[in-house]
Amino acid sequence: MENLSRRRALKLGAALGLAGVALEAPKAWSWSSAGSLAATDTVTDPFTVWDPVPDQVAARILADGATASVNTAWNAWTNNGDPLPAGMPGYLKSYLQQVNQLPSWADRSVLAASQQLYKRLSMYLFLSLSLGSGILSTVIPRESRAVYWSAGGADMKARAAKTFTFGYDMVAADAWSPNGHFVVTANKTRLVHSTVRNLLPTSAKFQATADQPKPISNGDILRTFHSTATFTHLNFAKWHVPMSAAEQNADLHAWQVALHLLGVQRQFIPASWADAVAQAEQMLWPDLAPTTEGTSLAHTLLGYIERPVLGLDTGFVSEMVRYLIGDAYSDWLGLPHDFISRGIIEAGWPLYVAFREKTSWIMPVNYYLFDQFVRGVAMLFLNNGTSATQTPVTLPSANRPG
Ligand code: HEM
Repeated sequence: MENLSRRRALKLGAALGLAGVALEAPKAWSWSSAGSLAATDTVTDPFTVWDPVPDQVAARILADGATASVNTAWNAWTNNGDPLPAGMPGYLKSYLQQVNQLPSWADRSVLAASQQLYKRLSMYLFLSLSLGSGILSTVIPRESRAVYWSAGGADMKARAAKTFTFGYDMVAADAWSPNGHFVVTANKTRLVHSTVRNLLPTSAKFQATADQPKPISNGDILRTFHSTATFTHLNFAKWHVPMSAAEQNADLHAWQVALHLLGVQRQFIPASWADAVAQAEQMLWPDLAPTTEGTSLAHTLLGYIERPVLGLDTGFVSEMVRYLIGDAYSDWLGLPHDFISRGIIEAGWPLYVAFREKTSWIMPVNYYLFDQFVRGVAMLFLNNGTSATQTPVTLPSANRPG
């Protein structure tokens, strides 16, 4: 909502039936890049910065009608160490030759430390990312609308699987090595976003709600970073998951490189977790709001998660979401209540984490319930990400039909 005037924001709020949801006048962007990797004390609004070079490459692919052939060529291109595949237009090949590598400032030993950390904390990570960030993303208005009105919005199961692929490739033990996939997956994702920037402005339904010239600015990507990584960082602190300073730094560094690979400029990439939290205070929490599109996406996503998670009844899943993202956002989404599950979660989850992390020797009564639950969520996440069933990230060629 950054570029909306207060009047337009209120009109839009009324049109969406957001009575009771406070729509504040947008505040001028004030986060200083002194807290970024570039460390320059300047204030540039990241919501006014996009990604022109790959956006032009994507425009040419669409104009040439080359989407299907590029997707075919990409099928066999998955490992970071793979040569670029044949069958791509020359301009795409030269673009990828420049970007399909780590930035000079990436520290391989710190990236290796992030892989160790993610292995150790994968259970909590998958829970925070899927039930937490996945549902939180549906109260980010711009992201919900972009996802809903793009081609993937019509098939959320495949779309969620592709997004899981990104998360899985990033936390995999070999994420950054020549046999890992993450650098390639991130580059494909960047080009998917560029394609979406070309396609969505041609969707009348999307444009009816759009409040920026094209979607997925650097600011929007950072906002999603906060709803995933910063949110998870804060969850781990709240749950007293033991993490050394070096481990926290490794987590941040992996994300700094990921943001770079997604086309975010250094002047916006937070240099420390304190800088990230300060940035999130400005760009994430004040801008959350319910939308018709987001609510529909949330219910579709929960449907996929609830059924397979070891038959645990839906009240437990929706109360876990409430525990993770809070009641205010969950009420916007109309998630059901189950006060018995809520009591079990509020009392039992902190004890479960403490027992698992050996900061307490008292085994909680519901230990196996939580264990079964986090394992179920992790399996769901992994099944979508294992190479046997991996859903490849592909370029869309059109918007959501209809
Ligand atoms: C596609 C990840 C930010 C909108 C994708 C895909 C991945 C991904 C892996 C490819 C899978 C697919 O095609 O569904 C990420 C990550 C982000 C981010 C890691 C930031 C850290 C955003 C933001 C928006 C957005 C901020 C919108 C405001 C979309 C859309 C698609 C997409 C519309 C295309 C779906 C389609 O194929 O129709 N993203 N994304 N993403 N993303 Fe993102």
